[in-house]
Amino acid sequence: MLDGKRILLIIGGGIAAYKSLDLIRRLREGRAQVRCVLTPAAKQFVTPLSVGTLSHERVYDDLFDLTAEHEIGHIRLARECDLVLVAPATADLLAKMALGLANDLASTVLLATDRPIFVAPAMNHVMWANAATQENVAKLAARGIAVLGPDAGELAEGEIGLGRMREPAALAASIAQHLAASAPLAGKRALVTSGPTYEPIDPVRYIANRSSGKQGHAIAVALASLGAETTLVSGPTRLVDPPGCHVVHIETAQEMLAASLASLPADIAVCAAAVADWRPAHAATSKLKKDGSTPHALELAENPDILATLAQNVARPRLVVGFAAETDNLLAHAAAKRVRKGCDWIVANDVSPATGTFGGDANTVHIVDATGTETWAPMSKKDVAARLAARIAKALA
Ligand code: C5P
Repeated sequence: MLDGKRILLIIGGGIAAYKSLDLIRRLREGRAQVRCVLTPAAKQFVTPLSVGTLSHERVYDDLFDLTAEHEIGHIRLARECDLVLVAPATADLLAKMALGLANDLASTVLLATDRPIFVAPAMNHVMWANAATQENVAKLAARGIAVLGPDAGELAEGEIGLGRMREPAALAASIAQHLAASAPLAGKRALVTSGPTYEPIDPVRYIANRSSGKQGHAIAVALASLGAETTLVSGPTRLVDPPGCHVVHIETAQEMLAASLASLPADIAVCAAAVADWRPAHAATSKLKKDGSTPHALELAENPDILATLAQNVARPRLVVGFAAETDNLLAHAAAKRVRKGCDWIVANDVSPATGTFGGDANTVHIVDATGTETWAPMSKKDVAARLAARIAKALA
């Protein structure tokens, strides 16, 4: 859920600032983009060099840095993010926020942002318990700012009490949870089929096709990043399992059907797999020999149609999307296919060899639904996936 999210991390000047380095690492492990602002006091605890090295981003620490203002500006810094996290949030920073002061870059950004704000307080337990701090924190919470911690335990000065900054892993998990809960497809379940199927002739030979799985995998990632609990049923591909999805590996069409049905109930089904229409009717259990005993013709049996089975199921997902890969009469075939299979939308694409769609990174698609056809400009398969996921979210809203 952190994947691709832009987090502005404001590091306050407390000893817990050293934990922010680990926090940056963990957020980046979840594939978030982390941009950091250091308060002047924070620079006494961690250096801009270490923060910049871990975040892979320029570090911002001066409100009056003309170069930084020229390049990005503190208002853009405040807005070009999905959320702001203050960790550690010192008593001083919390007080500035409660009062609405804007006398350095961190406090100015906090006043200028319209994004969700999270604070992870860290301070001595007596400072935390002080009525001033408690009033400030109550004010912030009443304004909708999420207060994560502090936790109890041994503090830097050797005293024991409430004041430790919450551990980076727990903070990263809270942020991921928040992003998931507020995502457009939160609470929705999605099933995506992807890749080719392998239909065995004997234990070493099979019938397959040229599908790379790139488009289907990208759709699973895009749905998951909008908060859908996503199952990806994948035929054999060269792709790594995408993070944030439950991946079920199968080989044959029959296995793909069983895995797809097992993932129901679902709200969304996107069948992007290039399922083999036929399989050898009698796969040999041992390797066929060239000794004349092997028949020269393969007897084929028709495979189940997964898309049609899902679309006509008693537990039909609310939105069923199929693909039509055609080399001629694309739109006419796609419209007929939508009706024949009983799905809601067909994503039609021309897979003539000249288009380079099969195995390539780009795609030109047309969305055929009950109201007509929408043609999208050529774009990367990732962009097709993001746009399709956004269209799905809108349809289910
Ligand atoms: O009939 P055709 O193979 O052209 O239909 C393509 C669409 O149907 C794709 O969405 C594909 O994933 C799906 N399909 C399926 N099971 C099959 C054949 C196709 O789910 N056996």
